[in-house]
Amino acid sequence: MQRIVVLNPKGGSGKTTIAINLASHFAMQGERPVLMDYDPQGSSARWAGKRDKTQARIHLIKAFERDPRITRTFQLRIPDGTGRVIVDTPAAVEAQEMPELTRSADKILVPVLPSDIDIHACSRCVQNLLLVAKVHRSDNRLGIIANRVRRNTVTYQALLRFLGTLRIPIIATLRDSQNYVHAAESGLGLQEMKPYDVAEDLAGWQSLLDWLEVPSTRRSAPAGVIQPMCRA
Ligand SMILES: Nc1ncnc2c1ncn2[C@@H]1O[C@H](COP(=O)(O)OP(=O)(O)OP(=O)(O)O)[C@@H](O)[C@H]1O
Ligand SMILES: [Mg+2]
Repeated sequence: MQRIVVLNPKGGSGKTTIAINLASHFAMQGERPVLMDYDPQGSSARWAGKRDKTQARIHLIKAFERDPRITRTFQLRIPDGTGRVIVDTPAAVEAQEMPELTRSADKILVPVLPSDIDIHACSRCVQNLLLVAKVHRSDNRLGIIANRVRRNTVTYQALLRFLGTLRIPIIATLRDSQNYVHAAESGLGLQEMKPYDVAEDLAGWQSLLDWLEVPSTRRSAPAGVIQPMCRA
């Protein structure tokens, strides 16, 4: 089973957009992926709730909810035979929460927007992943996604320069496109839109999907559930 964690404490960087589009992609491939929403805002859960039974199946787990009638382990249980778990995380995750969130992750995706504020926040996030969560560059687990990119802009060039200094691979560059907004409104992923309308957007996803298929080189990922995050 592959666990993909989408993480960046900076709000609005594209975590949910990437998580739901990955879930939609794998569902369209005939897998029944698990989408685990740790964000109390419940954006991934709301998106999944818009899908009907005729659409490719995604198993949603509202990890942000607490149900005192059942154990946490039971609440977070993954159905047998699941091949892929995609974890959407909230904004403002603290450095000390990162080890728990990433311990069992096979792949960690950090979306970053091309803006000075976001670049600065991303730099901190990557530092915390390396130093606090002890994710090693050589693990091949950590990848950056440049999101909402408009090429040939000064901020995009600045983002590329910054990412070069981090020595973390940029595994995808996703266009700034209203298709993401329209798809999300209808409980869809880009894969489920009219191919002609989204061809340019989807082209940006291929390198990410290819990278996800390259196994991480970390020795063994401990089994188990991500422990509850203490949030109000
Ligand atoms: N590539 C893109 N092109 C256009 N709009 C995008 C793109 N990526 C994300 N968005 C839009 O940006 C907004 C924020 O994205 P999203 O909710 O995915 O970020 P987030 O990191 O999950 O935010 P939060 O930290 O609040 O959970 C949403 O309205 C989303 O539709
Ligand atoms: Mg979100």
